[in-house]
Amino acid sequence: MTSNGSGTAGAVLPDTPPGDGSAAIVELRGAGKSYGNVRALHGVSLAVHPGRVTCVLGDNGAGKSTLIKIVSGLHQHSEGEFLVDGTAVRFSTPREALAKGIATVYQDLATVPLMPVWRNFFLGSELTKGPWPVRRLDIARMKRTADEELRNMGIVLDDLDQPIGTLSGGQRQSVAIARAVHFGARVLILDEPTAALGVKQSGVVLKYIAAARDRGLGVIFITHNPHHAYMVGDHFSVLRLGTLELSADRGEIGLEELTNHMAGGAELAALKHELAQVRGVDVQELPDSEDLRAPAPAPASSEGTP
Ligand SMILES: Nc1ncnc2c1ncn2[C@@H]1O[C@H](COP(=O)(O)OP(=O)(O)O)[C@@H](O)[C@H]1O
Ligand SMILES: [Mg+2]
Repeated sequence: MTSNGSGTAGAVLPDTPPGDGSAAIVELRGAGKSYGNVRALHGVSLAVHPGRVTCVLGDNGAGKSTLIKIVSGLHQHSEGEFLVDGTAVRFSTPREALAKGIATVYQDLATVPLMPVWRNFFLGSELTKGPWPVRRLDIARMKRTADEELRNMGIVLDDLDQPIGTLSGGQRQSVAIARAVHFGARVLILDEPTAALGVKQSGVVLKYIAAARDRGLGVIFITHNPHHAYMVGDHFSVLRLGTLELSADRGEIGLEELTNHMAGGAELAALKHELAQVRGVDVQELPDSEDLRAPAPAPASSEGTP
């Protein structure tokens, strides 16, 4: 498992197993959080390494947002430990997390739709020129820098003057990722970045998640889609009702098993049985737990599934 202080800050490779090379940037040890008497998260351990994507999966209400709110400084944990670079921390504001290089891209992106792309890229951190008190926005430098940074991530936009609201959802997420990289993020947290996107746009976002990882960032990718997770993930942590149900490296789990963990095969079968008793609900289309255990492209048998 993950070990701290192994001392070897080796090369950052996407497929380096955790603990083999670099130490964790962010680590939770038995962390938990209660809101009043609602226990949203309990006993969760998780490590984020540079150059690796840690996927946090789970159904609605599983505690995914609570987990990232702790890491991003919005909430404080009420049990366990939270470490950054091996030191126990307790952030009071997202600004403190950001100062440690922990950046969060939220689902509802904090962009101003009518402002140009380059302006959004520098929102809140505008470049200026000239001496006080006549400092002006350094528009040329902001445009140039935004263009360079986007290209470095492989993002090519026709016109950085266009309002960011005219970009597709996937492109806007990409700009937000490039922005975090530019401003020195070491850990990038993405809360369900593909949830509202179609297949193609999701692909765009997954590509830039991989690009951020290849630039050495540790990525926490929140999703309830095991297929998206498996395309870029190095480690998978599945939450269920606030606890860690599964924590496995890519080499330890296949997509089928991950999907089954997510879907909760047995629960789904029970639900299907219950729904079958309700008039007007057609359960034919719902998958059985059997289907979930052995999804379509199993190389061994090709005749089983329709
Ligand atoms: N601010 C809050 N106050 C009270 N309960 C909360 C609050 N935020 C989340 N919860 C509860 O904590 C649990 C986990 O929620 P959340 O972390 O948002 O899950 P997810 O993001 O996986 O859908 C849920 O039962 C939710 O109702
Ligand atoms: Mg959530």
